[in-house]
Amino acid sequence: MDLILSDIHANLHALRVVLRYAKRRAIARFVFLGDLVGYGAQPNQVLDRIQELKPRIIVRGNHDRACALEGEDLSFSPPARMAALWTRDRLTREHLRFLQEVPSGLLSVEGDYQITHGSPIDEDAYLLHPREALRAFDTFTSDLCFFGHTHLPGGFELDEVRGTMGWIQLEAGTWFQLRPGCRYLINPGSVGQPRDRDARLSFVTYDPARRRVKLHRMPYDHVGAARTIRAAGLHPHLADRLAHGI
Ligand SMILES: [Fe+2]
Repeated sequence: MDLILSDIHANLHALRVVLRYAKRRAIARFVFLGDLVGYGAQPNQVLDRIQELKPRIIVRGNHDRACALEGEDLSFSPPARMAALWTRDRLTREHLRFLQEVPSGLLSVEGDYQITHGSPIDEDAYLLHPREALRAFDTFTSDLCFFGHTHLPGGFELDEVRGTMGWIQLEAGTWFQLRPGCRYLINPGSVGQPRDRDARLSFVTYDPARRRVKLHRMPYDHVGAARTIRAAGLHPHLADRLAHGI
């Protein structure tokens, strides 16, 4: 079983809850879809925890790039830009080097599936609409690619037999069976900054033997996470939005 996490955004309060779940279920294969840091106030603590896990694979997110690379053009909103500069200043030398070495997508996970942060060809692109997804399906080879970046859980199903393509809503706590003859782009949602008006953290588990995916939504101490953001002097919007899942 693989545990697939995206957009943690330096939210240690949320990550801790996911790791407790993984420990209870004895899940040890972790896959990260980028944006480990940025926005949140505990980047070093989050990177310590991630490194301890010895993840199966990590792909870089646009915030990881912005926080790690000097001279990066920060075409972010003012709160995000401020958070990226704040993070860059505070990362330990070891964490900075670690982030600089995280590869960008598209990456293959031992021939089984692929991962990317934004779209399969552009880590900064948002896959939101079927027409974008249709183009994206042409740019990777496997039947399954996990992506992040939009912070919205769900996915796209391309039925190559019927010639149809549509959005799939994943129901939390229920297995979604991948169908033969179909290809999938699946987003686990965001651990550290959900944006679907549900404050609960979001991730998926993938069972490669049975070709099925399950969405998980769990409450966490978003009040505590918001408190650390305010205490760090980051933009208050980054704290306030956690309570609303926006
Ligand atoms: Fe993100």
